Amino acid sequence: MVDKPLVLMTHDLPADWIGNSLDEYQIILGDNTQRGIDNKLKRYLPEASGIICLLDDPISSEIINQAPLLKVVSNMAVGTDNINVKSCTSLGIPVGHTPGVLTDGTADLTIALLLSVSRRLAAANQDARDGKWLSWEPTGWLGRDLKDATVGIIGLGKIGSAVAERLKPFGCKLIFNNRSPLPDQETNLNARQVDLDELLTTSNFICLHVPLTQETIGLIGKEEFEKMKPTTIMINTARGPVVTTDALIEALQNNQILAAGLDVTDPEPLPPDHPLYQLPNCFITPHIGSATANTRRVMAGIAIRNLKAGIQGKPLPYCVNPEVYNIF
Ligand code: DGY
Repeated sequence: MVDKPLVLMTHDLPADWIGNSLDEYQIILGDNTQRGIDNKLKRYLPEASGIICLLDDPISSEIINQAPLLKVVSNMAVGTDNINVKSCTSLGIPVGHTPGVLTDGTADLTIALLLSVSRRLAAANQDARDGKWLSWEPTGWLGRDLKDATVGIIGLGKIGSAVAERLKPFGCKLIFNNRSPLPDQETNLNARQVDLDELLTTSNFICLHVPLTQETIGLIGKEEFEKMKPTTIMINTARGPVVTTDALIEALQNNQILAAGLDVTDPEPLPPDHPLYQLPNCFITPHIGSATANTRRVMAGIAIRNLKAGIQGKPLPYCVNPEVYNIF
C-alpha cells in the first residue's frame, strides 16, 4: 500500500465544506485553540507534503526549513503576510491564496462599518437596551452624513475598487491614493486620484485597503493622524499593522479624529483588556470581512484546490509566488 501524502491543517473546517476532497491525504489536524504550527504539528513537519493554514498562523522560514518534503503552503486567505513567502520561493515551494472571492464580502463590511460608525449604531443600540431611550431627542445620537462627504480610499485594488463602486449611489466625493497611478479608475469610479497628504487632510472618511507589506507597516501613524481632520472617521478592513496602534489610541483619545471602525487590529486577536475597547469612539469587529457562509466555503474550496495542485506538482490556480515555476 502506498502511503498517502501527509498534509498539516492548522484548523479543522466543516465536513460539508470539504466533502471527500481530502480523502487522498493523511490529514494531521492542529489544535484549534492554538495558532500556527503547534507542537503536535511540528512533529510531522519532516514528512509533510502540504500545509493548509489560516491568516493568523505564522509560517516562518524556521518552520519551512523543518519540512524538506514540503510541496505547497496553502493559505485560506487572500493576504499572505503570515507566511515567509520569500523563504518558500527560495526553496521552490509555491504559496497559494484565495483572491477575488472575498472582495464583495469585505467591501460590504467596509460599508457596514462606515455607516455603523458614522451613525453611531453601537451607542444607539446599547443606550436603547440600557433604558436610555426616554424620548425622541432632537440632539440625540447625532451622526455624520455620507452625502457630499469626501471619502478617501487608500489602496484601490480589488477591495478598494469594490468599496468605491458601492459608495457611488451615496453621493459622496471619492478620492483615492494608490501606489501606482490608475487613470482609468478616475473615470470608471468617478474618483479623483490624489497624493497621500491631500487624502489625509481633506477626507471626512478614510478607508484602508492596502495589503500588509514592508512598505505599508505603520502607513498610518502619529504624523498621518495629525494631518487628519477632527471630524475624520477612519475604517480599517485591511490589516491591523497598517496603522500604528499607539498613535491610533492617542488620536482617538485626544479627538484628533472623530472615530474609527476596525475589523483588523494589531495585535490580533485584541485582548479583552486592550485600551482600544475603552474608547467609545472605536467600533471593533473581530476580523470578519470575509465571514459570510458562502464566502468562507468558497475560500476553503480554493485553498484545497491550491493544496492539491501543489502536491501533484501542477501550477496552483492562485499562487502568490509564480516565479517558483521558473527558478530551477
Ligand atoms: C484575507 O483573506 O486576507 C482576509 O483578511 C480575510 O477576511
